[in-house]
Amino acid sequence: MSGEREHPEPEQNAPEQNAPEQNEPEQNERGQNEPEQNERGQNEPEYDWAGYGFATRQVHAGETDQHTSGARIPPIAMTAGYRFDSFDDARGRFSGEADGLIYSRQRNPSGAVAERRIASLEGGLESIVVASGQAAITAALFALVSSGDRFVSTASIYSGTRILFGRSFARMGVGVDYVWNDADEAEWERQIGPSTKAIFTETIPNPKNDIVDLDYVARVAARHKIPLVVDNTIASPYLIRPLEHGANIVVHSSTKFLSGHGAALSGTIVDGGTFDWAGADRAYPLITEPAPSGARSYLDRFGPTAYARAAREAVVNDIGPALSPFNSFLLHQGIETLSVRMRQHLENAETIAAWLATHENVESVDYSGLPDAPRYELARTLYDGRPGSVFAVTVKGGENGARRFLNRLRVFSHMTNIGDVRSMALHPATTTHSSFSAELRERLGIAPGLVRLSVGIEDAGDLIADLEWALR
Ligand SMILES: Cc1ncc(COP(=O)(O)O)c(C=O)c1O
Repeated sequence: MSGEREHPEPEQNAPEQNAPEQNEPEQNERGQNEPEQNERGQNEPEYDWAGYGFATRQVHAGETDQHTSGARIPPIAMTAGYRFDSFDDARGRFSGEADGLIYSRQRNPSGAVAERRIASLEGGLESIVVASGQAAITAALFALVSSGDRFVSTASIYSGTRILFGRSFARMGVGVDYVWNDADEAEWERQIGPSTKAIFTETIPNPKNDIVDLDYVARVAARHKIPLVVDNTIASPYLIRPLEHGANIVVHSSTKFLSGHGAALSGTIVDGGTFDWAGADRAYPLITEPAPSGARSYLDRFGPTAYARAAREAVVNDIGPALSPFNSFLLHQGIETLSVRMRQHLENAETIAAWLATHENVESVDYSGLPDAPRYELARTLYDGRPGSVFAVTVKGGENGARRFLNRLRVFSHMTNIGDVRSMALHPATTTHSSFSAELRERLGIAPGLVRLSVGIEDAGDLIADLEWALR
């Protein structure tokens, strides 16, 4: 369901009509404290804009004009480090007892705007931006697993994530067990064992658009008291907010729809603050155990945001995939138009998938919004019938058919990326999935004639004309 429908539109926001008469913070009709005034007599921006609609929060949430001379657009904070106020302040910041920034590998003001904005849109408590989606997935899971541990993942996931799990995670001694039929309870039960420390899934996998029943997977995770990590890259929080469906942690390649411009990589981890670390049957030592220095555990010190603090301070800060302030700026600027872009993406994708499905040179279309798609009912329940704008078309003629098709496209860019404003197309079998065995490709449904489409926001008529020309 779209964000707009889920979040009631705020009523007229007229601070001057609600001006507090006493010193106590006045509450408006949404139960929010009235904005505080700064020394210039201006309302201080709120961080989370709780209670406001999705489109309002995508523009405003996370901003602060502290130290910015009132600049309306949060400036790019190009700095590696931050001056401490005093000897004791430095000690306090390092111990976590004092607020304040330390070093941009851990936190940066430009990154913080994006972090608060994304946490607001996903409905999480805290988020952490990193240099790429792959870095977000790695850090999110590294906070949960140690060498010798395992995690369970649905089998249909982004090919790069599958490669990451099978190569780098394996080299670190962390194993993955795949569930191929995510509706098969027995398979989940077979794969989950005592050393399973996390469950990983994606809301809308690509290229097959074989959407996942998130509520079902969340019930499996909750039954086993295992944190559920969900990659929400392709749906974006505009389409679905996994935390509302029982996920505990959300990750993004914010390179994609959140940014929308295709100009810079970034990744995000969002902590819902909902997992009961103390009540879990399995061990999460990074979160629940004291540090070697004797410092109290993250759970003791930070309660519901313990996971986010551990991921930021003990994983991202260790490994170092910090997002540059410039890329952070591009990210929070991009988010401002998310809902507007998503509406156009979804409408174009629906139109084009339906058009392709009837084309004589098309063998099949993998888009769960088509009425005869196997997951159509789920697409209606979770996505109002419009499951994103990344899906597959299998053209007639196998690999040669795909070659002719891709070589003729003009409005669609032939490239590897998804989720920015322009339409893109790619042949997975010879690119993203080329390192997989033929058997695995077949099992994943990557046929020789399959082409992945990421439908952009151009005029649908021009996109269809381009596809028609290429298919002829
Ligand atoms: C669903 C999904 N997750 C993660 C990633 C990795 O993101 P990045 O390319 O920003 O590292 C991608 C990239 O295509 C993706 O599609």
